[in-house]
Amino acid sequence: MAQRRFLVTAALPYSNGRLHVGHIAGAYLPADTYVRYLRATGADVRFICGSDDNGVAALKTAREQDRSVEELTAHYCASQKRDFDGLGIEFDIYGGTHQEGFVDTHEKFSQSLFLKIYEKGLFTKRRTRQLYDEEAQQFLPDRFVRGTCPHCRSEQAFGDQCEDCGRSVDQQELIDPVSMMTQSTPQLRETVHWYLRLDELQSRLASWLSSKKDAGACGATWRPIVLNQSLGRIESEGLPERAMTRDLTWGVPVPLDDPDAARKSLYVWFDAPIGYVSFTDVLCQRGGEDEGAWKCWWEHPDCKVVHFIGEDNIVFHAITWPAMLLASHDSESVQGESGEYQLPHNVVSNSFLNIKFPGKDEEKISKSRGTAVWIEDYLDTFDPDPLRYYLTAIAPENARTTFDLDDFMSRNNGELLNAFGNFFNRTMTFAQKYFEGKVPASGSPEAVDAEQLDRCREAVERTGQSLEQCRFKAALAEVMALARAGNAYFDQTKPFQTRKTDLGACGRAVNVCLQTARTLTTTIAPFLPDTGARCATMLNLAKGWQGWAEATEALPDGHGLGEPMILVKKLDPKELFGES
Ligand code: MF3
Ligand code: ZN
Repeated sequence: MAQRRFLVTAALPYSNGRLHVGHIAGAYLPADTYVRYLRATGADVRFICGSDDNGVAALKTAREQDRSVEELTAHYCASQKRDFDGLGIEFDIYGGTHQEGFVDTHEKFSQSLFLKIYEKGLFTKRRTRQLYDEEAQQFLPDRFVRGTCPHCRSEQAFGDQCEDCGRSVDQQELIDPVSMMTQSTPQLRETVHWYLRLDELQSRLASWLSSKKDAGACGATWRPIVLNQSLGRIESEGLPERAMTRDLTWGVPVPLDDPDAARKSLYVWFDAPIGYVSFTDVLCQRGGEDEGAWKCWWEHPDCKVVHFIGEDNIVFHAITWPAMLLASHDSESVQGESGEYQLPHNVVSNSFLNIKFPGKDEEKISKSRGTAVWIEDYLDTFDPDPLRYYLTAIAPENARTTFDLDDFMSRNNGELLNAFGNFFNRTMTFAQKYFEGKVPASGSPEAVDAEQLDRCREAVERTGQSLEQCRFKAALAEVMALARAGNAYFDQTKPFQTRKTDLGACGRAVNVCLQTARTLTTTIAPFLPDTGARCATMLNLAKGWQGWAEATEALPDGHGLGEPMILVKKLDPKELFGES
């Protein structure tokens, strides 16, 4: 079978703030787990991320903090990168749409896609009116203006999107707009913009999205939340044209030889996803590959592009971005021919994560209200794996879930330590103490032993199936169920008793426990890479132990084991982020 190829991306975080647990749960952790799993199956994968530096978000924060936008974005790009490193989220490249080493390539890719769409006649140039702040003397794009949402009446809507109902908003429709720069009431003024003809692309988009309803046919299971917010949206409301330019000088300049294009940039949601492509190009170039090597990831139907995102990014990744790619195609094909940008194979989105502090009610994560757990703070005290475990165990895959600090503690101590850590611990210490740290002879297995070995094989298969479908929570549950089954088997076969009565039976049980531990090592690793590596050291596994196909390969009789070590630490509630 030909090697499978995947280009996996995680949403480019805005480089104007720190990362909290909600970000990690939303896109980055599932993406990293998926990539680790795919690699374990032998797939060729590139994992791409970097900062989203352009647009108003960074500009606004830079003004608030009285620093240059270049310095601000470089600072946060680096600090977010450190957070990812600390959590074991390992990208093949971490770029930045306005960072040194990336910005030139990024501009080139963004402008050339814009021009391609322009040449296809899929932009309309329109004279329009836009909110203008007289005091600041500038137009107020997107997040520079707030007001009441015309759809749901939330008073927190931005000029491009309402985060309460998730709908996109045209700033002219905002009720009672307020400038975020000066708090004054902005006035409408005339300007010119280029609008992407989403209306023209709508029917092709709809048939492409419809093909994602049938997992069997498209080879991917699209989550309902993604299809509802994309196909559902098209079917219920249709798609209006959307402006893809802004009155801003921070960003990718509009590449048109037209006086009306002066002092304008591409809309940040136009250039940001192109970052996935431009960073891929930088990655290939740094690897010394041929110019155009990026195309083998983006323009070949045999490479699957998979985007991991949070809920507020769905419309952009399942409508706008595919529309941009379709608009660049020469062919009428729904997916794109070879040599054209391939549309995403899957867009995997989680819902938001709420948070609950001890003694308080569950609430939304909010930077301004201080209701967030920052990754930097977490990593000051803890190892990555307890957080990785908890965020996968409670993953908001189908609905909002809650990061509850008490629950985090008790699941670490009750599940990861009691079930998983404990199983390794008792198995390893027993083998060390009574079998000189070697795998005892398997002998001839009895029914209980064969059943337990079957459970190992089934667990590998079911975990793999769930991971293929991006059902991470279910996949982790399979691994944990195997750890519990290992404990039950240990209790049932009682090696601590047979040691005195029937050494052969005792050795057989310990052998099966070690085989179970072997399987657990490979299957836990995509979720908890450090834990997996420590398990592999304890079992003294040879290089390549991550290979999914080898997860049930038996440790031979007499195989020398490593030293037992503590796998999971007990967490004390007092350690948790001080006494908050
Ligand atoms: N910066 C956006 C956010 O944090 C995500 C951008 S994803 C990209 O919500 F595809 F546009 F890059
Ligand atoms: Zn709304």
